[in-house]
Amino acid sequence: MIKEVKNGVLYFDGCNTVELAKEYGTPLYLMSESDIVGQFTQLKDCFLSKYTNTRVAYAAKAFSPMAMFAICQREGMCIDVVSGGELYTAMKIGFPAERIEFNGNNKLPCELEAAIDYGIGRIIIDGLQELALIERICREKGKKVQVLYRVTPGVKSDSHDYIVTGKKDSKFGIPLDEDVIFPAVEAAIASDYVDFLGFHFHVGSQLHDNGSHLQALDIILNLVKQVKEHLGYDVTELNLGGGFGVVYTDENRKPYSYFMTPMMEKIEGFFTDLGVVRPAIVIEPGRSIVAEAGISLYTIGSIKDIRGVRKYVSVDGGMTDNIRPALYQAQYRGVIANKADAEPTETVTICGKCCESGDVLIRDIGLPEAEAGDTFAIFSTGAYGLTMASNYNKNPIPAVVLLKEGSHKLIVRRQSYEDMLACEVLPE
Ligand code: LLP
Repeated sequence: MIKEVKNGVLYFDGCNTVELAKEYGTPLYLMSESDIVGQFTQLKDCFLSKYTNTRVAYAAKAFSPMAMFAICQREGMCIDVVSGGELYTAMKIGFPAERIEFNGNNKLPCELEAAIDYGIGRIIIDGLQELALIERICREKGKKVQVLYRVTPGVKSDSHDYIVTGKKDSKFGIPLDEDVIFPAVEAAIASDYVDFLGFHFHVGSQLHDNGSHLQALDIILNLVKQVKEHLGYDVTELNLGGGFGVVYTDENRKPYSYFMTPMMEKIEGFFTDLGVVRPAIVIEPGRSIVAEAGISLYTIGSIKDIRGVRKYVSVDGGMTDNIRPALYQAQYRGVIANKADAEPTETVTICGKCCESGDVLIRDIGLPEAEAGDTFAIFSTGAYGLTMASNYNKNPIPAVVLLKEGSHKLIVRRQSYEDMLACEVLPE
């Protein structure tokens, strides 16, 4: 059991969360290494070991400390990066460049140059100008790089509008209009500076239904067929993106096999019928690897009971360490970690300390009586928490502690006030 209650106290991956709050201070991110490795194991069982020529590229944007990349390396995963910073982090720990894939709708020339210098495994080209930019850089450097095209399959998916990416009106990917995509593919095939491998799609994030993945897959397979028919070219790689949903409150999380098995069956059948060797298949999960592996700990401070209206229970963090409720109306569950088995007696709203009325972490949660000094734990904060954290109001970014079966170690130290000023210059 990753999460359990002993003597009224919440334990996570064998560690007493109240003790951790005391030892490391709050706000604090806890990450369970056992849970992260467990996710990779599930992917190995239903995908990597079941089908040959498959890869998992962890989407770094969900949680990107060096220690996370080291776990990916140890577990034999690849990494999907979307910026020079994520790429730098991976290279810093000696992550093999050929196991890194680079996504993004506006990769900067300096980022592409760095990626090509490092000898990165794949660049997922997101727009038509990007091919020319990559070709220019490769020409100057005398290099060649392997590329895929990210296409927009034009399917709808059921998630928050900000994290739906597969529809046609999207800043990501290349639309599948014939007069756009075929000339682009032809140009990539003919290029002396890139090896064109195939196509990439990502339909959206936090999806609990496999419908949009399967729909997008049909569209992409049709494209593969057309490329073979019109251009006589057999693609050697397909990347199906990420997007697998997790539990924040009462969602029904599906196993990876719910997505992977029907997709792989479709793919295998398709290429057998086409009489062509199946290309490599890559997926890019982010959230599903790390979301449930994370818990945020806070200390409760001010409590304000506006009689007949609402009781506000404030914690010492907020939208600066978890922007998701304010940005996506994301919902979370939590408990008072030192009263974890007490019955709820009141309904309160957990708010942060930022000067912003929208800085609410959980609206209307049933809790036992909250008191200043209690430790409050919010579940499933491992994805897009730290990576979207900010210094708004000059609040320092919290520390991260990695837990494993009762042991714990610091992997990101808490920012100090001095750290926050480190890039500032006071004019003479
Ligand atoms: N691959 C590509 C090309 C992506 O754009 C994304 C996510 C992923 C993979 C990973 O998707 P995941 O498996 O994590 O669903 N900040 C938002 C989520 C933004 C996702 C953006 N792209 C949130 O907190 O909900």
